[in-house]
Amino acid sequence: MEVEWLWASEFRSPYNRSMPTAADVQRKIDKLRDDIRYHENRYYVLDDPEISDAEFDRLMQELKRLEHDNPELITPDSPTQRVGGKPREGFVKVPHSSPMLSLDNAYNEQELRDWERRVHELTGQKNVDYICELKLDGLSMALHYRGGNYERAITRGDGVVGEDVTPNVRTIRSVPLSADTRKAKLPGDFEVRGEVIMPRKSFERMNEEQEKLGRPKYANPRNAGAGSVRVLDPSITASRSLEFYSYFLLVNGRPYFDHHADSLKALTAAGFKVNRNWKQLRNIEGVLDYLSHWEAKRETLPYEIDGVVIKVNSIGLQNELGFTGKAPRWAIAYKWAARSGVTQIENIGVQVGRTGKLTPVAWLKPVFIGGTTVTRATLHNEDEIERLGVKIGDWVMVERGGDVIPKVVKVIEDNDHPRGHKQFHMPERCPECNSHVVREEGEADWRCINANCPAKLRESILHFASRGVMNIEGMGDALVNQLVDKGLLRNVADIYELDEVKLLTLERMGKKSAQNVLSEIDASKKLPLERVIYGLGIRFVGERTAQFLAEHFGSMDALIEAATLKDESASLEALQQVEEVGPRIAFSIREFFKEPKNRDLVNRLREAGLQFKGRKKGRGTQLAGKTFVLTGTLPNLSRDQAKKMIEDAGGRVSGSVSKKTDYVVAGADPGSKLDKANELGVKVIDEAGLNELLG
Ligand code: IVH
Repeated sequence: MEVEWLWASEFRSPYNRSMPTAADVQRKIDKLRDDIRYHENRYYVLDDPEISDAEFDRLMQELKRLEHDNPELITPDSPTQRVGGKPREGFVKVPHSSPMLSLDNAYNEQELRDWERRVHELTGQKNVDYICELKLDGLSMALHYRGGNYERAITRGDGVVGEDVTPNVRTIRSVPLSADTRKAKLPGDFEVRGEVIMPRKSFERMNEEQEKLGRPKYANPRNAGAGSVRVLDPSITASRSLEFYSYFLLVNGRPYFDHHADSLKALTAAGFKVNRNWKQLRNIEGVLDYLSHWEAKRETLPYEIDGVVIKVNSIGLQNELGFTGKAPRWAIAYKWAARSGVTQIENIGVQVGRTGKLTPVAWLKPVFIGGTTVTRATLHNEDEIERLGVKIGDWVMVERGGDVIPKVVKVIEDNDHPRGHKQFHMPERCPECNSHVVREEGEADWRCINANCPAKLRESILHFASRGVMNIEGMGDALVNQLVDKGLLRNVADIYELDEVKLLTLERMGKKSAQNVLSEIDASKKLPLERVIYGLGIRFVGERTAQFLAEHFGSMDALIEAATLKDESASLEALQQVEEVGPRIAFSIREFFKEPKNRDLVNRLREAGLQFKGRKKGRGTQLAGKTFVLTGTLPNLSRDQAKKMIEDAGGRVSGSVSKKTDYVVAGADPGSKLDKANELGVKVIDEAGLNELLG
């Protein structure tokens, strides 16, 4: 692109005698506007500038000067007209051309598959194309264009009526003031819907500013973005580096093209910013891959997303599917459970764990995070409390990741969230048994030194009985507390000596419940060796390490033998042969089995009939070197289970079928991967076939 900014100063030169005509000036203004629009699009929409900021500023200055000298030539679509006008009195309410609906949500694979099943049933079609887009966490907005020019912006409001924020949104540089309707093959009058967002960087910068000015900080980019659009003075919006991403195109309140993908392409051609990560996928398998890809990568994006929107591509099918009360049936938002929330600490208590460790726990004002109400969050230890600088009464950010216990991650401090005042101190005695607590040198934790501390016992039994361990349903807090208090449980082996007579001595325990508990206890005897190892509660031996130990030694006896060799260093070395076991874990395992009381306990578990033999596994045997692709729903195995089984047997699981694929494992409703396999002549097997290969 040729840049002609020098020209304007030429005709001011004393050597240039002939004055430019009005038509010359108009031509030059038009040219400058076109150039500026082109470079704005490269910079703000495509993130791919061609000229330097300084060159761009020169073009802009030149245009401003010409418009200043010729005010009659200023038009509202000129790039100089983004910020203008005075602050207004208030916002005018405007109805939308068609309601701006919200979306139904899916929070897991099953809900997504249920949605797909409904799509199949209602359309009578098995092969439906989907468009996946990132779900940007911002403020949705409708922009109206007339004759190709920006005319009006309306917030979503209640979906039916929104607020007119035209001058504010005009300042957002990725909103074209005049759209390239010719290139996009669009009529001049149309509507674009999308999301105004504040990128993370702008958010951080803005909060730094707020802090400097002693003003309250914004809680997140979404609030900051919304706050920046709904201000009466557009120059404030202009200073906030907002972006507009478009995802809908309407003409006369309806989609204009036959496929959603074509709308996205037309929007791009017209000069709108469309998030480039959208993808067309042929089935839910592809959608699931897209979801896991972006779940892993979402933190690397320069803006926040709270999920993925999945839309049926065909507008014909969209029309067949229609709407429920407030959401379309042809789209769904897949949301990753929110992982954090803000709430207040009402008090700080101390919990004694099964190793005697004292953990400070924040008692919270109930807060809803990722589908559950959280009332407690761990503060880990004394050092962490100091690091966070947390006090009782503080407002804090609480995070939940996977199944992990919620934790306090930081103290919030702004005008809406005043600081608490009450300092917390770790207790000098165990809150459960009043024994001394110690904090050894180099250790972060305080521990209760009483070997018979009831809290330790209770926690170790609860751990043993819990879902991921021996899975004894019904053996929760209430039951374990009573059993410990009555002296019926003094260690985990006592569980297997419970009988109906003993259980019926407990309060509110009927015959039926007692029998249920006993049958749960009985069922736990069948659980594999790794669960028993994990259940013992050896320090540092979590689920994963227990699994590696079981696979490596193949039996409890082999493990005990290695752990109790006469030569201590030979013992530690033998244990460190196990995957992920280092000196610290090896030492802890040896210490555990050296203790005669613990060996007695293990022997009693053996006598009770628990599984002491496992399957010794070396990786990479049956399926070594073989590549698998999974497609469709298998009758018994989840995708993760099938994947793990294949990998445990030395095989590899890949996402797409190629000539190098050895087997495609197909279940119900297979996707295009099956067609591809047939095309390439790759062997296709079902779940039974996979089991056969695994022996
Ligand atoms: S489509 C009728 N696509 O999510 C369907 N929405 O939970 C309208 N959002 O109100 C929405 N990114 O504010 C769509 N790529 C995207 C989106 C998106 C973010 C927001 C939008 C909407 C909300 C629905």
